[in-house]
Amino acid sequence: MKLRVFILISLVSYGTFIGANYFSSHLAVPMSEGAISGKQVWQRHECVSCHTIFGNGGYVGADMTHIVAQRGSEYVLNYLVKPPVMLPNRKLHHPGLSGSEATQIVEYFEYLDKIPTLGWPPQPQKAEKES
Ligand code: HEC
Repeated sequence: MKLRVFILISLVSYGTFIGANYFSSHLAVPMSEGAISGKQVWQRHECVSCHTIFGNGGYVGADMTHIVAQRGSEYVLNYLVKPPVMLPNRKLHHPGLSGSEATQIVEYFEYLDKIPTLGWPPQPQKAEKES
């Protein structure tokens, strides 16, 4: 009798474990084809050498996790298709992308933007004046 109860409890907990794993692995927001291509553009052009996503990468340029919310898709697209000159010498242009690559990377940034980061990255604070 005790053995039967033991087997029953084991089977129920095993089933719960498998079921919970199955459902939780299907909850994540899937990445669109465009966003996947955009991630590959990000890797191919080594944007990570100067920019961060979730804080990982280089600190020369800004963090890209919520760039779409901060600047808007249109701005990011134009910035990459017609890259401006960069500080400090204003001679070197920012790396540029073709129209289709820029569209894909914006789709990747839009995907990243939907991931909640609880207010991170923090916005730069202005130093308060000392009285
Ligand atoms: C050599 C370093 C470097 C690389 C590589 C680089 N960036 Fe940048 N990026 C910068 C810097 C520096 C700025 C800020 C320029 C300025 O303010 O004058 C910038 C600015 C930007 C901006 C505008 C940010 C804003 O708030 O106005 C976007 C968008 C951007 N980069 C995306 C990318 C993408 C996508 C790639 C890869 C294709 C990339 N960058 C590769 C250094 C780089």
